[in-house]
Amino acid sequence: MHRRLIAPGALAAASLLLAIPASAASYSPGAPGIGDPYYPYYGNGGYDVSHYDLRLKYQPATDELEGTATISARTTQDLSSFDLDFLLDVSEVRVNGAKAAFTTSGQHELVITPRAPLAKGTPITVVVRYSGVPSTKSAYGFTTWHRTPDGAVAADEPESAWWWFPSNDHPSDKATYDVSVAVPDGTQAISNGTLQSTDSKLGWTRFNWRQNKPQATYLATLALGRFDITTGRSEGGVPVVNAYSKDLGDNDGAARASVERTGEIVDWLSGYFGPYPFSSAGGYVPNTTTGYALETQTRVYYSPKQFANGSNTSVVVHELAHQWYGDSVSLKGWKDIWINEGFARYAQWVWSEHEGEGTTQELADYVYASHPADDAFWTVKPGDPGPDDQFAAAVYDRGAVAIQALRNEIGDKAFFAVLKGWPRQHAYGNASVADFQKYAEQVSGRPLAALFDTWLFQPVKPAAPAARAASF
Ligand code: ARG
Ligand code: ZN
Repeated sequence: MHRRLIAPGALAAASLLLAIPASAASYSPGAPGIGDPYYPYYGNGGYDVSHYDLRLKYQPATDELEGTATISARTTQDLSSFDLDFLLDVSEVRVNGAKAAFTTSGQHELVITPRAPLAKGTPITVVVRYSGVPSTKSAYGFTTWHRTPDGAVAADEPESAWWWFPSNDHPSDKATYDVSVAVPDGTQAISNGTLQSTDSKLGWTRFNWRQNKPQATYLATLALGRFDITTGRSEGGVPVVNAYSKDLGDNDGAARASVERTGEIVDWLSGYFGPYPFSSAGGYVPNTTTGYALETQTRVYYSPKQFANGSNTSVVVHELAHQWYGDSVSLKGWKDIWINEGFARYAQWVWSEHEGEGTTQELADYVYASHPADDAFWTVKPGDPGPDDQFAAAVYDRGAVAIQALRNEIGDKAFFAVLKGWPRQHAYGNASVADFQKYAEQVSGRPLAALFDTWLFQPVKPAAPAARAASF
């Protein structure tokens, strides 16, 4: 998907029209974007969210979603108004109990003007009542709300929240979640974290999900449809909840044969990355037609297509690796995507070696050799790929070769210390590529600027492959 800039003037002008009390000259509107150069209007300025409470109801037959979002936040500047990113139809907004004025602006801005301006550092509670048919909404000409024959799925990157809840939509503002969704009896609602309870009345079943660790907005997921839910626990003690559409057809066996290995793979990854950071693990396979998988926190989204050729534990390893690299430790900005995708790909290579299907070095050499110097593959800089190449093959594959090069430069002992130390160092937080370089230098005691520059920041094929390590 390609996302875009829209005329900045339009938003600025709209914001200026909002009345600011003369007595509050220092109060100004929160910015319509959080300041990510890849996506200038993603997220918002002026506040920081700590919790989303979403109480929703969904009718699969008509794709109607309605409910209430209660958002707990704190202001980070003197605010006359602020934005949430959202596309559905809002009927009422309250800030700290009082009805607030609201309007829409740009592609996905809900602009809220509280009755009285808000001083910096104030805890606020924002209640948004809304409804709508998400499949009828688009922004920048696309949608990431995926309808299925029996419901719908919200799972996409870097955006999917706009279609189902109002948010500060950027990974730098993480929050905990309660997602409670009522669906007609016989339909299930799947989301992140632990299923606290379900209850049925008047023909509707309500599913109450809780994510008790900070979660980026794009990692919040919602799936509505007819699912089989399986529960268990890994040998290492991590509770596992998986869900399979009842309509996976020929892919059903391979999907279960792969995703049911979640507990085993979580335990195996813990050996490299340290303790699993969340209170639940698992994945779900809805009957979507999209092709990708996504590391939605604790409850990975898998397309049935991932299992069209039989079992695919590699994709399970990739998405579970993200639980440490991407979900617990999130990006500061979207340009830092290599930390997510390079390490998730590298984990697949370590799994390949474990399975006797090629070592990490063989796979790095293979990637290096299979792209000639004039291949456009090498023009993508994994350390700053730009929004259009954020998910280009080079971010993953060249990104993983870069990690093999790092390993060969600093030796296995320091390398595996970095691999395990990083998720601990930044657990539940945010970090950048620059932070990663600094951390690897600190742990290994070696200057690494040249290596990072060569492998992540030059739009050309590096002169030498990731040389094999002498032994350290
Ligand atoms: N982070 C995802 C992965 O692990 C990438 C999904 C990108 N594709 C998309 N259509 N949003 O591979
Ligand atoms: Zn990935």
